[in-house]
Amino acid sequence: MCGICGVVGTRPAAPLIFEALRRLEYRGYDSAGIATLGPQGIDRRRAAGKLDNLERVLHAAPLDGTTGIGHTRWATHGSPNETNAHPHAVGGVAVVHNGIIENYETLREELSAAGRVFTTETDTETVAQLVDSLLEQGLAPEEAAFRALRRLEGAYALAMIFTGHEGLMIGARHGAPLAVGIGEGEMFLGSDSLALAPLARKIAYLEDGDWCVLRPGGVVFHDARGEAVERPIQTVALIGGAVGKDGYRHYMEKELHEHPVVIGQTLQRIIDPVTRQITLPDLPFALEEIPRAVITACGSAFYAGLVGRYWLEAEARLPVDIDVASEMRYRNPPLSEGGLGLLISQSGETADTLAALRGLRAAKQHILSVLNVETSTMARESDVTLGMVAGPEISVASTKAFTAQLSVLAALTIAIGQARGAIGPARQQHLIACLLDLPSRAAEVFGQDEAIRAMAQVIAEARDVLYLGRGICFPVALEGALKLKEISYIHAEAYAAGEMKHGPISLIDRTVPIVAIAPSTILFDKTLSNLQEAKARGGRILVFTDAKGAARLRDLAEIVVVVPDVDAFVTPILYTIPVQILAYEVALLKGTDVDQPRNLAKSVTVE
Ligand code: F6R
Repeated sequence: MCGICGVVGTRPAAPLIFEALRRLEYRGYDSAGIATLGPQGIDRRRAAGKLDNLERVLHAAPLDGTTGIGHTRWATHGSPNETNAHPHAVGGVAVVHNGIIENYETLREELSAAGRVFTTETDTETVAQLVDSLLEQGLAPEEAAFRALRRLEGAYALAMIFTGHEGLMIGARHGAPLAVGIGEGEMFLGSDSLALAPLARKIAYLEDGDWCVLRPGGVVFHDARGEAVERPIQTVALIGGAVGKDGYRHYMEKELHEHPVVIGQTLQRIIDPVTRQITLPDLPFALEEIPRAVITACGSAFYAGLVGRYWLEAEARLPVDIDVASEMRYRNPPLSEGGLGLLISQSGETADTLAALRGLRAAKQHILSVLNVETSTMARESDVTLGMVAGPEISVASTKAFTAQLSVLAALTIAIGQARGAIGPARQQHLIACLLDLPSRAAEVFGQDEAIRAMAQVIAEARDVLYLGRGICFPVALEGALKLKEISYIHAEAYAAGEMKHGPISLIDRTVPIVAIAPSTILFDKTLSNLQEAKARGGRILVFTDAKGAARLRDLAEIVVVVPDVDAFVTPILYTIPVQILAYEVALLKGTDVDQPRNLAKSVTVE
């Protein structure tokens, strides 16, 4: 979603804000802008499209001032042009906003009736108009902001600056994340800690409903009622500069190559290397007493959850319900107290997942979240967080976070299976050995570049692609199809291989390649039959399998990518890697914007 940041201090604000926007660009790249308090009051530079366009504008006409705010936009209301770009400045105030003001039409009508003239299609301009109308009534900025906030419905993180009030910035949060960076004689606002990382070591998070007043010397937090409150300050590692590509062409390529390390680091966090036992953080509930689990997440994280369901049911013998969070939040399923609410999210900020978390808490479930950002809102609202150790994921399409999520879920399955007596010591040691072997097997996948590129050539010519998988590898097919759609804009669907004959088989001809995820596990023969059915109808068969499977597919498949031979339990983790690489290779052939595909944004903080 949109990224926002702000600076009050003594250094020129615009260059600091611009660099912070670079770190936030993954949250949206439809337009960008910065406003500062210059000698003449509020001064702005904005540009449609990516930050490079704003950079050119700033180069031609730099901004002065030590107080400023910036924004990178993922459009919700109003097309992504310069007029609708943030910051929105009206009279004495400039505003940047992440989220959606749901009652903006009512407010707009009211303000228009009072003679205010709107110049953009955005919901955010309503906030600027409202605050300015209150300033015009003679209210001080703090009072005007507070009164305006009480009128807003929906989700927002806001930052505001005010003409004639050098060294003052106001931030507010309701349903969208906002962090305060505390420096020496300078203060910062940012959508996430990554934006603030090179600027401030001390970070505090606003809680929902909070607003804050920042001046170079400090910050005062207020709760929704306006009372001054304290918020905990955390010390974080100071990371220099922007996160780099380290010589790779794209962040996605770099992040794909990080799979082996990320899997290794994540497993190290949760498996004691000496005792080879799963080491979970202290839990406020007993694993053996959990009657059932409800898993919920969005997008790729949801597919990780689907793998988790197969594992928890088959290995830990735990009943599982699962749904995408955008459905789960409204489903209101009957749940008996004391179940496990299992949330999965890279960002920890996804609005639907967060809403589902709150729903599960209201239904008295124990909340366990698998997260990459351990300072996120979901982390703060969970009973316990299991961290992935994936590091910052900058590419909008998720890659390494997915295998990290799976690694955590695999370990959690073993822990729950043990606690329930479903996994005995020998099985446990076997499964742990399979997991610990994975980083090396994952590194071997990169030796298959040539076959993957050959597959990519076939797919790049297609308009539609079918992905097939069975059992635990069906979610990998879903992930492969999603990744292909996202970054190459080729239509792809994934089916459980056995389901193909119930409908999608009618699509098959030579123009619709079929990508099968088919390790030689007990379901291999079944998948083989499904592929034969497809081949008989002219389908071009492309398969990810192991050496044993490859031998049996010689006459059937046009191209085979041979994946290292591993135990069935860990196949979803390993097979994800070449399947994601395939999407990347197709996107390269199509010449798309791999890291920032059209219409997408990371960290979807609106519903
Ligand atoms: C796909 C992708 C998305 C995310 C989804 C959930 O490549 O990146 O589908 O997986 O938006 O995001 P998180 O995990 O941050 O909750």
